[in-house]
Amino acid sequence: MQTGVSAEPAATVAAQAAQRIGIPREIFPGEKRVATVPDVVTKLVKLGFGVVVEAGAGELADVSDEAFRDAGAGIAGSTAELWNSADIVFKVRPPTADEVALMHAGQTLIGFVWPAQNPDLMQQLAAKKVTVLAIDCLPRTLSRAQKMDALTSMAGVSGYRAVVEAANAFGRFFNGQITAAGKVPPAKVFIAGAGVAGLAAIGAAASLGAIVRANDTRAEVADQVVSLGGEFVKVDYEEEGSGGGGYAKVMSEGFQAAQRAMYAQQAKECDIIITTALIPGKPAPRLITAEMVRSMKPGSVIVDMAAEQGGNCELTEPGKAVVKHGVTIVGYTDLASRMARQSSTLYGTNLFRLTEELCKTKDGVINVNMADDAIRGLTVIKDGEVTWPAPPIAAAPKPPAKPAAAMPKASAHGHGAGEPMSAQSLAIVFGVGAVLFALVGLYAPAAFLSHFTVFVLACFVGYMVVWNVTPSLHTPLMSVTNAISSIIAIGALIQVAPPLDAAGVTDRPNALILGCAVFALVLTAVNMFGGFAVTRRMLAMFRK
Ligand code: NAI
Repeated sequence: MQTGVSAEPAATVAAQAAQRIGIPREIFPGEKRVATVPDVVTKLVKLGFGVVVEAGAGELADVSDEAFRDAGAGIAGSTAELWNSADIVFKVRPPTADEVALMHAGQTLIGFVWPAQNPDLMQQLAAKKVTVLAIDCLPRTLSRAQKMDALTSMAGVSGYRAVVEAANAFGRFFNGQITAAGKVPPAKVFIAGAGVAGLAAIGAAASLGAIVRANDTRAEVADQVVSLGGEFVKVDYEEEGSGGGGYAKVMSEGFQAAQRAMYAQQAKECDIIITTALIPGKPAPRLITAEMVRSMKPGSVIVDMAAEQGGNCELTEPGKAVVKHGVTIVGYTDLASRMARQSSTLYGTNLFRLTEELCKTKDGVINVNMADDAIRGLTVIKDGEVTWPAPPIAAAPKPPAKPAAAMPKASAHGHGAGEPMSAQSLAIVFGVGAVLFALVGLYAPAAFLSHFTVFVLACFVGYMVVWNVTPSLHTPLMSVTNAISSIIAIGALIQVAPPLDAAGVTDRPNALILGCAVFALVLTAVNMFGGFAVTRRMLAMFRK
């Protein structure tokens, strides 16, 4: 049998000391992801590493051994052979006791480990004198760590999948439609918690055409919710929900009571609720009570993404989809694995970016540099010594406060410091624009100038109209634009009744032109009145 050892890629033969990265088959029940994909293998080989993949490792993510081999990886015939021959092992799920038993001193493991939840595993790994980089311990607040942030990429996939699961269980369209058989109102989707998964769910549900509302205890996410096409629903209670590091904190009793009242209202109004609320290190907050589930319309759907941490909904059963009081409650805990090809690609890319950081010399040998904040945060065991938890990263020194004199003058007139452009810059832009127009006016032919003016005005009006319309209203916007395009009727009107010349006479059009013009008028009238009528009906669907 061909093995990873015998099929070592040519690129790595030259570098004697190059290390070999091993990708085992994931053995956790139901796990379909794989820690790398062929495109990433090619890049790892370019970095100087040898890559060996266990036979069948990518099968459930639709990646064949053949594709891995074509990308430059060797194929190991057995699990033991894979673990024996690898210097570095890339995994998705934390290793089982059987897998730890296959490890050898000096080996490096990179994958999800969750040290806080798995103290026994940490002891077993340390006893093996290995080095472990837990991708779940990446310091997410470091901006340069974003490219390695597998928690974010997996939560993004899961948020999207939560919407797909909701759509699967929901018996109606997401978008409003006018069909020959009647009018269909858009679905109303409420998202609880607008972190990474919640924002991905908002984007996916809005792109399917639903009316999306969302709530989070951290007020700073409101703008992000709106930019993704959702509406931020506030709790009628003043309290800051940010607990630092971009995470939430446990809220006061008063806030929780006000939040429950708002959620109870949303449960009655919405067709689909997707819950993603989580406070790190705490059980998931209970947001949807059995009473709220009972108040939902029959056929409604709840997807509880926090099922694994105890669930945001009282009636969730982790890992299952159940129907209670006529509402389907989906508590799947493997949403990312349900899109195995996509999540494997993103996860593999995150690990590749980490490998780049570990191998700046591009010679196929990693250097676990504990002086690097990102690497230090990830490294939970170094050569058998437990190094978790990492010390907190010292906050970057704050930039010196701007002296009052340096503040933009506009702030004195009510423009905040966050304004995109100061009055001064705006004046410069307008000044330059005016000079350019003056030059065009001086040197361009007169005919060009009039067309150019109309063009510039059209761009300005078009921009203002489209920019100020929320994305969910773009379909009615298109139909009204279509209706407005009937302005071409003027062309036909001029043909029917040409303007008089200076002497007060006019050329009567011949019958053929008159016929065509009348026909064009009829068509544009249909377009105009039909377009406005359809727009009116569409807008009526969005009125709450
Ligand atoms: P995150 O930490 O980025 O987002 C959680 C959000 O919930 C934060 O924005 C936080 O402010 C908000 N929140 C906390 N308490 C709240 C409350 N009482 N009311 C409203 N909002 C509240 O987490 P991320 O990465 O977006 O993941 C969300 C959840 O989905 C987590 O529970 C995570 O474990 C789970 N998840 C589940 C998967 C599955 O397969 N089921 C896969 C990936 C993530």
